[in-house]
Amino acid sequence: MKQSALAQLGQVAEAAQLQELRVKYLGKKGELTELLRGMGSLIPEERPVVGQLVNEVRTALEDAFANKQASLEEAALTAKLTSQSIDVTLPGRPVQAGTMHPLSRIIEEIEDIFIGLGFDIAEGPEVELDHFNFEMLNLPKDHPARDMQDSFYITEEILMRTHTSPVQARTMLKKEGKAPVKIICPGKVYRRDDDDATHSHQFTQIEGLVVDKGIRMSDLKGTLLTFARQMFGANQQVRLRPSFFPFTEPSAEVDLQCFKCGGEGCRVCKQTGWIEILGSGMVHPRVLQMAGYDPQEVSGFAFGMGVERIAMLKYGVEDIRHFYTNDVRFLNQFNRS
Ligand code: PHE
Repeated sequence: MKQSALAQLGQVAEAAQLQELRVKYLGKKGELTELLRGMGSLIPEERPVVGQLVNEVRTALEDAFANKQASLEEAALTAKLTSQSIDVTLPGRPVQAGTMHPLSRIIEEIEDIFIGLGFDIAEGPEVELDHFNFEMLNLPKDHPARDMQDSFYITEEILMRTHTSPVQARTMLKKEGKAPVKIICPGKVYRRDDDDATHSHQFTQIEGLVVDKGIRMSDLKGTLLTFARQMFGANQQVRLRPSFFPFTEPSAEVDLQCFKCGGEGCRVCKQTGWIEILGSGMVHPRVLQMAGYDPQEVSGFAFGMGVERIAMLKYGVEDIRHFYTNDVRFLNQFNRS
């Protein structure tokens, strides 16, 4: 029996067969167990002899079964390891990378252009004092032009800045009357506007300010034309229209040509061929004075441009709300390649 059990064990190739064999020989009704039960019918002298023999066989079989089980387990593990090994030469799955937001991208491009023209980047707070947002810009409390910029007030003295112009005043004060000043300041601004295709209660401006001896209106125009051509190509024209801002005199609104429209159905420039991108002018003498500069000695120009307008023009975006709704189908179009 021992021989045949061992021979059968040699043939076993999987765990289920091993278990079957174990039941056959060592189970409750197995052959070996039957033998032990049968010992009752033996004569007393034979019992120890046969008992010892049966026990030996049982130990031998148990050992053999355990060995077999161990080697089966090892073989299974090896097979598993081979079948599950990682093929490092397989090409990886592509990772979905985010893209730079079109507004951030435009801001960077504009910054690069102005840095190339010798400007520094300045920053200021979005939660601003009425003092800097209006008063230092020649807009005292009762000034009717405050209505041009409906504001979100937090207290009577604190508001969400309605434009980036307060950074003009802050920068000049920091300079303590020293010239030249040559900065641009990108940032978010807030107005109590109803949102539609061309208005948003929060949008982005880039303020520009140059103060030095002998700065003239032609410097403003030349700077803006240079900017426009670097941004939109060498044949871009700028159009200055007389305007009014309490902090500049004279003042001008500046339009760029819309190249997207091709004449019909253009919603970017509403088929006028031009799009207004900024307000500008020569810094008002009172603004210079309040910030510690002598208007007899220095002069300056300033502008505040709408970044969304420039992005709409550059990318042909017809609705300003696309910039804020974070639809990936929109954002993925601005993949840097
Ligand atoms: N601050 C003005 C606005 O938001 C723009 C501007 C800036 C005009 C600087 C003149 C000079 O409308």
